[in-house]
Amino acid sequence: RDNVGILAMDIYFPPTCVLQVNPPSLLPLSLPAPSPWTILGGETPQIVGFLHRMDEATIARMPVQRVEALEAHDGASRGKYTIGLGQDCMAFCSEVEDVISMSMTVVTSLLKKYKVDPKLIGRLEVGSETVIDKSKSIKTWLMQIFEECGNTDIEGVDSSNACYGGTAALLNCVNWVESNSWDGRYGLVVCTDSAVYAEGPARPTGGAAAIAMLIGPNAPLSFESKYKASHMAHVYDFYKPDLASEYPVVDGKLSQTCYLMALDSCYRQFCKKYEKLAGKQFSISDADYFVFHSPYNKLVQKSFARLYYNDFMRDCSSVDNDAKEKLQPFSNLTGEESYQSRDLEKASQQVAKHLYDIKVQPSTLLPKQIGNMYTASLYAALASVVYDKHGSLDGQRIVMFSYGSGLTSTMFSLKLNNGESPFSLSNIASVLNVTEKLESRHVTLPEKFVETLKLMEHRYGAKDFETNKDTSLLPPGTFYLTRVDSMYRRFYDKK
Ligand code: ACO
Repeated sequence: RDNVGILAMDIYFPPTCVLQVNPPSLLPLSLPAPSPWTILGGETPQIVGFLHRMDEATIARMPVQRVEALEAHDGASRGKYTIGLGQDCMAFCSEVEDVISMSMTVVTSLLKKYKVDPKLIGRLEVGSETVIDKSKSIKTWLMQIFEECGNTDIEGVDSSNACYGGTAALLNCVNWVESNSWDGRYGLVVCTDSAVYAEGPARPTGGAAAIAMLIGPNAPLSFESKYKASHMAHVYDFYKPDLASEYPVVDGKLSQTCYLMALDSCYRQFCKKYEKLAGKQFSISDADYFVFHSPYNKLVQKSFARLYYNDFMRDCSSVDNDAKEKLQPFSNLTGEESYQSRDLEKASQQVAKHLYDIKVQPSTLLPKQIGNMYTASLYAALASVVYDKHGSLDGQRIVMFSYGSGLTSTMFSLKLNNGESPFSLSNIASVLNVTEKLESRHVTLPEKFVETLKLMEHRYGAKDFETNKDTSLLPPGTFYLTRVDSMYRRFYDKK
């Protein structure tokens, strides 16, 4: 079987989001600076269009009302969330949405938009770290879609380990299609998560989304399965030991270092395997795009700089003379010292910046706009590249880095070709429809976001309640939670 990989993709994210901060350039000039966010007035000031797409003249013509964005609401210093973390906006589930409803929405949408008969799915794998039930998998919820068509012969269950579950699910499906067990049908991978944190420094690094990917041979995004390297270890950087709470316990600083150490280890192994098989050195020049798991954009900037530093230490031709000079003072650092050195971090980010803009920046659109989507984060970043660059990806290579705290990580490589309709890069881009989905979101006040999270704290693990069934913001075709009965059974409807 040739070119096994991703045939089709679709993404769903909640239409509710909170802004990290108001870009000053978009503020109507009449407002005193530094001003918090400005949005449309009216009875329901939390509902506005997608302000990033509006020009100043348009905003100036609108009745405006001053509203705080998250940064100001949290009392963080100006620029901390946008420049410090690199984030623009954060999606979150309202009380009618959760990881089950989002996954049902995205799977239904993918099957419909690519006209795939549900009978043709032979394996369905879900990656998620959002625990709604400790036994019943999200996959079994999705089976409703297939049962209706008489297809109950579908292998696979859920995979979970922090943000890595989606990658585990994807590798399982790819391996299945490449194996003797394959029965000729498609694999389907779903990554679905709602990332919420307790109040504190991690809260602005939340997000929510579900992604579905159809897997099979002759794919426009095919796996170079031989170039794959993993790094797995035992650490307590981010974990969810309190089963009564949806929030993780997180050691933020440790999680950043673990992420970068895992990246180094995977990259070293990846280069070694490439060199052995291809007979030449691998450097960042050998891939057109690098796509990283994106808890927040700043870590992605640091990650690419770290790969550049690796190339410098390996004396690769991808590092120019000017950069060599600037990185020379750091050539004798031990591994441990190199993770602690702020000067190295700054210097490597600076010398890698021109390549970051070309090889990484196109992957950052959705993660910056939605936030951390846990298992879906890496694939939302991949979707951003396909959406933005689909016309020029033929023959190109994308290197992917997946990280899940605890920890599990894998670096792997995809080779791209234009594909054939409906499984072509251009059709994937049009189904993803990213701009329209982002533009039709509704910006919510931070107060409303905090209120929703408080309500969800009470609802987590609870029974016997009804939701407000408010679907006014949901696009048609979206699944939503209506009630949980006295036996904790959940009921959903479709708008
Ligand atoms: N203007 C510009 N930048 C600023 C400002 C400002 N006013 N204030 C702070 N910053 C910068 C800081 O310098 C820092 O940048 P740097 O790392 O380049 O130095 C950045 O903003 C963050 O500020 P800190 O004070 O270092 O971070 P804080 O303690 O607030 O927490 C953290 C940040 C650790 C990312 C926290 O949000 C967190 O724990 N998130 C969840 C954990 C996580 O996502 N880990 C990643 C891997 S694991 C996973 O995927 C879940």
